[in-house]
Amino acid sequence: MIGLSFIALMAHASTATELISRQAQPVVVAHRGASSLAPENTLAAIRKAAELGSAMVEFDVRQTKDGVVVLMHDANLRRTTNGKGRVKDADRIELSGLDAGHWFDASFSGEPIPTLDEALAALGPKMVAAIEIKSGRTVVPRVHEAIDRHDVAGRVVLFSFRATHVRQSKAARPGLPALFLIDPEQGQDSYPPDIVAQAQSTGADLVGLNHQAVDASVVKAFQAQGLPVFVYTVDAHSDVERMMKFGVDGIISNKPRSTRARIERISRQSTQQSEAQNQESRK
Ligand code: G3P
Ligand code: CA
Repeated sequence: MIGLSFIALMAHASTATELISRQAQPVVVAHRGASSLAPENTLAAIRKAAELGSAMVEFDVRQTKDGVVVLMHDANLRRTTNGKGRVKDADRIELSGLDAGHWFDASFSGEPIPTLDEALAALGPKMVAAIEIKSGRTVVPRVHEAIDRHDVAGRVVLFSFRATHVRQSKAARPGLPALFLIDPEQGQDSYPPDIVAQAQSTGADLVGLNHQAVDASVVKAFQAQGLPVFVYTVDAHSDVERMMKFGVDGIISNKPRSTRARIERISRQSTQQSEAQNQESRK
């Protein structure tokens, strides 16, 4: 049964709405592309995620000085390119000559910083994109415009740690799903009691929580209010198992293939256990 549902998931292109409401097994989101196998936030990482059969791929976007939306996690170019300075202080043309692959592995030398347009074009026929907004408010309409240009409104979920981005996007595009990312307050290792109300006030369709700060009760509290829960960033099998016990709806992972395999294995074991219990009770 579980095997069949996985095959069904792989066989057709899911819409964003389908993926964020799926409850039987958590959806796996390839974090910054398949970023354990290719340099994060590059077309190589997005294509790798597609090759692995990922249902959803996440990437981070920022705006250049001349208003082009590009894929980049950090505000500064230093960590993941051979450039210097901040993305927002550089024009697109300056970024286009940079190498965003060599830092990861020499075999990726020459991999460029992609624009959001290029990333959406590389999605392929099946994946849903999770676009995380990393720069200021003015980027949100530009992200909407890119979604329209590529006609992928049904295949995008907007992610942000900023309530203002979520509100802004939901006000302009109510039909575009938005995920509110929430880190615990600095120095805290859990979420406060009013966290569900805080998330609801943004108009978000779902939330993304730090896996180190969640427990079963916080997951249930969100789900009871109709807000599915995704968790970031989960790579260790022990953490995947813990998140499945808590009943999360999505797992954001740098290792989408091994995370998917772990989920399949845990689901199979749990099906076998309940079948054995049923047989026992019929004796
Ligand atoms: O999408 C969730 C996760 O990506 C948030 O953390 O720092 O990797 O953008 P970060
Ligand atoms: Ca991110």
